[in-house]
Amino acid sequence: MSRWILFLNLALAVGAAAPASADGDPDAGAEIFARHCATCHGLGGQGDGPMSVLLAVPVPDLTGFAEREGGTLPIARTVSIIEGDAVLRGHGSAMPVFGPITTGPSAVLDANDGSPVQTTQSVADLIAYLTALQR
Ligand code: HEC
Repeated sequence: MSRWILFLNLALAVGAAAPASADGDPDAGAEIFARHCATCHGLGGQGDGPMSVLLAVPVPDLTGFAEREGGTLPIARTVSIIEGDAVLRGHGSAMPVFGPITTGPSAVLDANDGSPVQTTQSVADLIAYLTALQR
């Protein structure tokens, strides 16, 4: 009996430690996008946000991101763009713009080559939204 309880506790502990689901939630991603990305990229991601006209660097149309990258959204690259590891002139430093997105519950996504990409649930949600936006 006690052995069974021990097993159950272990199973629960492993379950609790596992990262959140690999699939992001596009609806949650849409909210994060509206809050953190739409000022420049526009609500629909077409590069027409109110701040776009004030920037010296043109804001890309994100609905054509996969198309420009050969047909598939580059998952690992998109994660590093959002997390600020891939330095883009238009994104400034990672801290002020995207800080809140890159903390919180963790998630693991599959990169295009199948390798795991460690990120946060918020970034996974954003990527699910970006994937849904692709034309
Ligand atoms: C302050 C304006 C601004 C905000 C806010 C912003 N972006 Fe950007 N983004 C840009 C600009 C400008 C570029 C192009 C940068 C360059 O080419 O150096 C860009 C590039 C990108 C790219 C690369 C697209 C490509 O075709 O190479 C992705 C993906 C992206 N942004 C996603 C996001 C996401 C997701 C958010 C919200 C978490 C966000 N951006 C917030 C201005 C912004």
